[in-house]
Amino acid sequence: MSSTDIKRALVIGASGQLGAVLLERLENSGVTTRGTFCHNGSAVQKQKPSSSTLELVKSGQQPLLVQLDLLDRGQISDVIEDFSPDCIYVAGAYTDVDGCELEPERSNAINVQGVRDVVAAAREISSCRLVYFSSDFVFDGLRGPYDEKAKPSPASVYGKHKVEAERVVASSGLSNVIIRTSTVFGRDPQSKNFIARLLASLQKGESVVVPDDQIANPTYNETLADAAIELCNSYNQGLFNVAGATRVSRYQLALDAAAIFALPTKLISASSTLALKQAAKRPLMGGLVINRAKSALKTELIGHVAGLQKLKAVLAQESLVV
Ligand SMILES: NC(=O)c1ccc[n+]([C@@H]2O[C@H](COP(=O)([O-])OP(=O)(O)OC[C@H]3O[C@@H](n4cnc5c(N)ncnc54)[C@H](OP(=O)(O)O)[C@@H]3O)[C@@H](O)[C@H]2O)c1
Repeated sequence: MSSTDIKRALVIGASGQLGAVLLERLENSGVTTRGTFCHNGSAVQKQKPSSSTLELVKSGQQPLLVQLDLLDRGQISDVIEDFSPDCIYVAGAYTDVDGCELEPERSNAINVQGVRDVVAAAREISSCRLVYFSSDFVFDGLRGPYDEKAKPSPASVYGKHKVEAERVVASSGLSNVIIRTSTVFGRDPQSKNFIARLLASLQKGESVVVPDDQIANPTYNETLADAAIELCNSYNQGLFNVAGATRVSRYQLALDAAAIFALPTKLISASSTLALKQAAKRPLMGGLVINRAKSALKTELIGHVAGLQKLKAVLAQESLVV
C-alpha cells in the first residue's frame, strides 16, 4: 500500500481538540472523512449514525459528526462497518486523568475495552490501518524524558489504561502506529485544554495557580495532527513519541503563554504538585525524547513558544473571519 491508498479516514473523538484538527486537516487534504463525537456534539454539527449519513457522504457533502460511544460495542461496529475506512485515528478517550482515578472501571471500559472493540471491528474491514494516541502518562516521571525503548511505569489509572490500550493495538495484527504525546494545546472546540483554560482565566482577570514541578514537552495540536497523518500515510509502523521540541515546566509554559498573548503574568503563581491535591499522580520529571519521530518526519516538531505563536495567529485570523 502507498499513501494514496488512504482514501477514507475515520476520526474517533473529532469533537475533542486533537480529533477536530485531525479531521479538518484530513478533509483539506482531499481524504473522505468521518468524525465522531460522544457527549459533546453541541459545539459541532452532529448526527446519529444512519443511512442518511451515508447518503450525505455519497452526495459529496461534508460529512457530519456521528455519535460513537466507546462504551457501546454495537455502535462502534456499526460506525466502522458503515464507513469502511482505510484508516482509523483513535483520538477519543476518557481524558480526565483525575476522573479516571476516581472511576477506574469507567476508565477501563472506555480506554481499554473500547479500544479492543475498535480493533475487533477494524479487523472486519480489509486493510484497515490504526493510529492510536497514547500519553507520556505511561511513565511515572521519576527519570524523564523517555524514549520509545523505556519501560512503561504508570503511576495513575489513566496511565495504566493507556499502556494496556497500547498493547491491544500493538498485538492487534492490524497495521498500526502508536503515538505517545504530551500536554496538547491549540484550538479546542470545547476550550478544555490547559492553555485554553489559562487564557480564559487571565482574560477575566482571575488568578491561576500552576505547578512548577511538572516538566513535559507541550505539543501544539496542529503539529501533532500533521505528524500523525504523515506517519500514517508513509506507512511507518509501531511506537513513536510525537511531542513539542521544548521541555518545560507547566509554570514556565503558563508564563510564556501569558507573555505571548499580552496577558498579565502577575496573575500566575507557582505551586508544588503535591499542594494541588489532585486525585491522580502526575509525572514530574516527565516528557518524551522525540528523535525517532524527528528522523521519520518531514513535519517539524516545533517548541511551545512557536506553537503558542501559531495559536495566536490562528485565533487572530479566526476573529477577523467571524
Ligand atoms: N490533551 C493532552 O494533553 C494529551 C496528552 C497526551 C495524550 N493525549 C491523548 O490524545 C488523545 C486526544 O486527546 P484530546 O486532548 O484531543 O482530548 P479531548 O479534547 O478531551 O477530547 C476527547 C475526545 O474523546 C471523546 N470521548 C470521550 N469519551 C468518549 C467515549 N466514551 N466514547 C467515545 N469518545 C469519547 C470526546 O467526545 P465528547 O467530548 O463528544 O464526549 C472527545 O471527542 C487522547 O487519547 C488522549 O488520551 C492527550
